[in-house]
Formats: sequence, structure tokens, C-alpha cells
Amino acid sequence: MTIEATDLEYLRHAQEGKFDWGWLRDTKSEWGVRAKPSKVGLTMRDIAIGSYGDVPDHPARRTMAPRGSDVDPDVPDMGYTINDKAEVWSDNLLELYEEAVSRQWSATRDIPWTQLEELDPDIEHAMCQLSTVLSEVEMVAADFPAKWLWRINHDFVEAKMFLCTQVMDEARHTEVFRKRALANGGGLGKSKSVVERFLKLILDAQTYDEGSALMHLLGEGIVLSLFRAGELIAPSPVEKKIFRLCMQDEARHVAYGTMHLRYRLERDPSMAEDFHSYLDKGEEIIGMLFTTPEVVESTTLLAAGSLKAAEELGLGAADILRGRVIEEYLQRCDHAGLPRRGRVKLAPELLVGVARVNGEVAS
Ligand SMILES: [Fe+2]
Ligand SMILES: [Fe+2]
Repeated sequence: MTIEATDLEYLRHAQEGKFDWGWLRDTKSEWGVRAKPSKVGLTMRDIAIGSYGDVPDHPARRTMAPRGSDVDPDVPDMGYTINDKAEVWSDNLLELYEEAVSRQWSATRDIPWTQLEELDPDIEHAMCQLSTVLSEVEMVAADFPAKWLWRINHDFVEAKMFLCTQVMDEARHTEVFRKRALANGGGLGKSKSVVERFLKLILDAQTYDEGSALMHLLGEGIVLSLFRAGELIAPSPVEKKIFRLCMQDEARHVAYGTMHLRYRLERDPSMAEDFHSYLDKGEEIIGMLFTTPEVVESTTLLAAGSLKAAEELGLGAADILRGRVIEEYLQRCDHAGLPRRGRVKLAPELLVGVARVNGEVAS
């Protein structure tokens, strides 16, 4: 690519009022195309009109030019590596982006931190341990999209924009659990290598497909189910609010991942086996997480309410919680068109709770 010299001749002509006006007169723009705001304002769906609204399956160029613009023939190549729409797209992207922008919240202002009261030390410890794990895992869901964002063709800009909202959401989740661990005297707990191994699997994914299945569908799906159980495990209204607000965000990320996988498989069913093998690997590590005391016992203690109650219940409460988490994950796989019942790489002992909740879990 050659960089043209500054056009001093143009400058001299313009100073005399002799303008080019080519952009005004000769442009192939879509004059007259007019987006109408909907009830909530002018949404991304409202402006998906004219040639701008056409998202090509295989863009002709790799530039940052907006779709629908009249592009110079000699624009530089940005080197994007994700140039197939099905690699990142989902039918709910535009709506999820709008929702993300309108439902941002503040971990500083929107959590009733002053209502935090002194808890039983064991319960405080459990909450801090769980907060440590959550604060640790949340950031991968920012790092992974950030790693792939620049590689995505700009014609799929809505996917990029949605992933930007996810990065912000996850920064806030990391923040809120770090704040919770430090806000009531417990402090940060243990970081386990098995947790880091799962995070590394996502970061090291060779393709966006692989990382997205492991993260949006499996990892975040499990975290979403845990947040959904917030009423059961939150020791005070403070944690209830934290879980509720995080759950809203997490539901968007999982909705994207599920619908993206569905979009991908509908266009190329032959990829099913690839996705199965990604999830085979991920579930093996998730199985280890389900037998990691820092993860299992902190949630069991919170659900039971005391050490004594937890010991009396044994893993009864944990079985139900785990069963619900796994059942919801399997439902998402079904919904994405990748049924994993009968194939899931979890020991039968870990699946005992699934049968109990089966049929009682909303999809
Ligand atoms: Fe999150
Ligand atoms: Fe997330």
C-alpha cells in the first residue's frame, strides 16, 4: 500500500472556493433510506435497513468501513481471520446488545453494601471462598472475547459490539465478587489449580468456535445456574442483589452462546462432532470442579446455613444444586441442536441430582 502525499493542489483550489464535491454528487449512498425509532428509541434492529442491514455471509473485504458505505477500492486489508458470518453470529445479537447497554449497573452504587451485617464466621468464610472462585473465573469471559475481537470481520460489527458489552459485564462481575470478599472481614480465600486449568482451556482454544462452546455454553452456563440459585445460597440481601444483577448479565452471555452454536450448526451440521469433542474436554474438568472441596463445600455450607446442618444433610443439598446446574446445561445443549444426554463426560455419581430435578427445570 502506498500512502499518498498531502494534496496541496486540492488545498489551493479549495482556498479559492473550487471544491471537489465528488462525495456529495457522485456517491452511491442510499439517500432516502430512513430508519424509524421504535418505542424504546432508535435500536440496532431499527437501523438494520437498506444495504447496511445486509450482513454478508462472506464479506468481500476486510476493512473497518461500515456496511452500506461507498468504499474506496484501495482500502487497506485489516487482516481479519474470522470472515465467515456463522463463526460469530446469532439471531438474537442485536437485541442482546440493546439489553446489555440498557441494563448496565454499578457494583459501587447498586449493591446495598451498608446493609452487610456480621455473619456467622463459617458462613462468611464460605461466602468469601465462593467469591474468590467467582472473581477468579469471571475475567476469562472478558479475556476470551477480547483475544478474538480484533480478528472478527467488521461486517459482523454487532457481534463485536455485543462482545464489548460482555467484556464490561465481566469486569463488573470480577469487581463485585472481589468487593464482597473484602467487604465483611473474610478476605479472599483459596485459588485452585483445577479452576485455572479450565480457564486456560478457554484461553488456549484454537478457534473461536471451541472457546465459545467451552465458555459461553459450558462455563458461563454453570455460573448462570449458580447465580440463579442465589436465593438459596445468599446469606443476606446483599448477596441476593449481587447474584440477581450478575444473573441478568450472565443470561445474555449464555443466550448468545446457545443461539450462536445453533446458528453455526444449522449452517454446517457436520461440525457437531467437533463441538462434542470440545465439550468432552471441558466437562472432564468441570467434573473435577464438582469434587473440589473449595467449590462444593462453600456452596453446600451456604445452602445448608451451618456446618452442623451441612454435615447432617451430607451432599443432599449439593446433589440437588449440581443436578439443577447439569440439567440446565443439558437443556441448553438440546436447544443449541447438540444433544449431550447420554454422552456427557461426567461420572454417574455426579448425575444423581439430574434425575431428581429432571422435568422440573424451566428451559
Ligand atoms: Fe460473568
Ligand atoms: Fe458472563
